[in-house]
Amino acid sequence: MKRIHACFTEELPEGEALRLDTTPVIALFHVGGEYYAINDQCSHGNASMSEGYIEDDATVECPLHATSFCLKTGKALCLPATIPLQTYPVTVTEGAVFIDIPEEA
Ligand code: FES
Repeated sequence: MKRIHACFTEELPEGEALRLDTTPVIALFHVGGEYYAINDQCSHGNASMSEGYIEDDATVECPLHATSFCLKTGKALCLPATIPLQTYPVTVTEGAVFIDIPEEA
């Protein structure tokens, strides 16, 4: 597991998302006072979840075919996507946001 510094809290306002140039590419969201990290690429096609529509119930809707994903679990909540998105633990310490990413096998 490696811990990366994603951003500072003031760089990601409530209701917005940030695309991180990590491997894999990760989308970081700030919703309802919480931060969530998921794979940026939709499990159904070539769409960036950081460009999706963020809802107050901690879901994001894919901008291409409108599957809604739970930001807490990564689960696809409706069709056409059926495969969940990987989620990553997020830690906020002294105004800095960190994400734990598994080491590659
Ligand atoms: S690419 Fe996301 S639902 Fe199709």
